[in-house]
Amino acid sequence: MLKKHFFDPDFKFASKELIKFLSVSKFNNYNCLDIPSGNGRNIYLLSKYFNKVIGVDINKTYLDEIELNKGKYKSKNISTIQNDILEEISLDFKQFDFICISHFYNRLFFNYLETKINSGVILYIETPTCRGCNYLELPTESELNLFLESFNILKIKKNICGSEGNIVKSISFTAILEKK
Ligand SMILES: C[S@@+](CC[C@H](N)C(=O)[O-])C[C@H]1O[C@@H](n2cnc3c(N)ncnc32)[C@H](O)[C@@H]1O
Repeated sequence: MLKKHFFDPDFKFASKELIKFLSVSKFNNYNCLDIPSGNGRNIYLLSKYFNKVIGVDINKTYLDEIELNKGKYKSKNISTIQNDILEEISLDFKQFDFICISHFYNRLFFNYLETKINSGVILYIETPTCRGCNYLELPTESELNLFLESFNILKIKKNICGSEGNIVKSISFTAILEKK
C-alpha cells in the first residue's frame, strides 16, 4: 500500500489481477466490500464497476483520505466504516456480492468471513507476499486447502514461502473464489 494516496485515475497502482478480472466481468447492480481498504488503492477502481462500495479499515486517517479523494474520482458510491476487523464487524455481509481483500491475511478474519457470506459471493483475495516476516501470518498449505473447500476456485496463483524438508511453511496467494 502506498503511504499516502495520490491521484491515480488510470489505476496504475491498483491490484493487477483485480483489474484483469473486473475488465472481463459484468456486475449489474452488485455491491462490493473492500476490506481492509487502506487509503483506497483499489476502492476507486471498484467504484467504477459496482453499484455501491463500502471500505472498512481500522485506520481513520486512511478512511479520511478515501473520503477526501472521492470527488477527484467522481466516486459518489463509496462509503467508509472504521472497524477493527478482528473484532465483531458491524456490517450485514449479506448485502455484498463481491468482496476484495487485498494485501491482508488473518486466519480468524478469513474464517469469520467465510461463515458470514452468501453462496455465490465472489471473493478477490491477494495476500501479502512472502517478503520479510509475512510468512508468519500467512496460511500453511493445509489451512489454505481447508479454507478453499468452501469455495469454487475460479483462479488461483500460489507462492510457497519457503519450506523445511517436506513441510511447506506458508503460502502467499492471489485467488478469485466463489462461495459454494
Ligand atoms: C497493506 S494495507 C492493504 C490496504 C489495501 N487493501 C491495499 O491493497 O492497498 C493493510 C491494511 O490493513 C489495515 N488493518 C490492519 N489490521 C486491521 C484490523 N485489525 N482491522 C481493520 N483493518 C486493519 C491497515 O490499516 C491497512 O490499511
